[in-house]
Amino acid sequence: MELNRRTVIAGAAAAGLAASTLGGTAQAASSAARPSPGREKPVKELFGRLPDGTQVHRWSLANGGTRMKVLSYGGIVQSLEIPDRHGRYANVSLGLDTLDAYVESSPYFGALIGRYGNRIGKGRFTLDGTTYQLSVNDGDNSLHGGAQGFDKHVWDVEPFAEGPDVGLRLYRTSPDGEMGYPGTLRVKVTYTLTRHGEWRIDYEATTDRPTVVNLTSHVYWNLAGEGSGTVEDHELMIAASRYTPTDPGLIPTGELARVAGTPFDFRRAKPIGQDLRAGHPQQVQAKGYDHNWVLDKGVTTRPEPIATLRDPRSGRTLKIATDQPGLQFYSGNFLDGTLTGTGGRTYRQGDALCLETQHFPDSPNHAHFPSTVLRPGRTYRTTTIHSFGVR
Ligand code: GLA
Repeated sequence: MELNRRTVIAGAAAAGLAASTLGGTAQAASSAARPSPGREKPVKELFGRLPDGTQVHRWSLANGGTRMKVLSYGGIVQSLEIPDRHGRYANVSLGLDTLDAYVESSPYFGALIGRYGNRIGKGRFTLDGTTYQLSVNDGDNSLHGGAQGFDKHVWDVEPFAEGPDVGLRLYRTSPDGEMGYPGTLRVKVTYTLTRHGEWRIDYEATTDRPTVVNLTSHVYWNLAGEGSGTVEDHELMIAASRYTPTDPGLIPTGELARVAGTPFDFRRAKPIGQDLRAGHPQQVQAKGYDHNWVLDKGVTTRPEPIATLRDPRSGRTLKIATDQPGLQFYSGNFLDGTLTGTGGRTYRQGDALCLETQHFPDSPNHAHFPSTVLRPGRTYRTTTIHSFGVR
């Protein structure tokens, strides 16, 4: 069983590489690289043990042509496989082979992020007259929930197969005061694979004290296949006329700046590499793109399309819809060739990008940003849908 799985992953990675070196021409891929597009209920296996002995499981599921593997540790998407225009599968999400590697050195590959996606300046905010000091883990600032964020905890996972869908429900209760955040936060995240092969994420949370919350998912995408090289030729569209410039610590200054006439203009799809070296001070400071785009649609009651990504070589496309007001586009600037991924290849700068749907970074310290406050009696609910295709 384990051997078969490895063969499938290796085959898929090889098919992804073949697609990139052959410029997407039709080449016979081994049948092992071609998972059934059918619906496969979640199956669990032991993935590893944390230093304290806690078991971590890996779940495999498939539907509508999309296959994924998810860890109970951090809700991590270890792999996500989709076909190219010739039906050849590749794993388009960066990941690591072992639990130890995730624990020791993962830069949030595929992980669930909480309690607060991206940065809070000085790890400090004031709510209802009380100032809270959070765990500081990124220079002076708090990043992705602090030193032990949701990405570093084991979640309770419940599989489901309902109607045409399959998926996983992930549960975690974050105790009052965890990483400095007020309130006991009860969180439920649902990963659904629909019969059309979409990956839908529904987040829910409640609290027993006023708090702030901003959950997201930190998949690193490379639609040509993880480990196949740079994503600079991927074409990206973001439906946003403004973005939030940052200070050197990547904390928003509070300004909502226009993208028009700058490298930050992705309103029409363009290759990521096109303006990546334009030398805009905001790019130099961030080592590339690492900013929050202010989505034109704002906060919406339902998910609306806000971004598309396309790899011209394989034809694979990703469309993202969300109800959130912001999108963090991070161009993999900190990948430095020191990590080896699931396909056995190292990840270098720009070998993937993240598109994190969320509220704006540091919102608790900017009254004019959409609010991230959650109060007792209310339920935080948000949805993001990833749709895959070829074009
Ligand atoms: C986010 C941030 C980046 C970086 C990565 C993780 O996307 O915006 O600055 O911290 O996470 O390496």
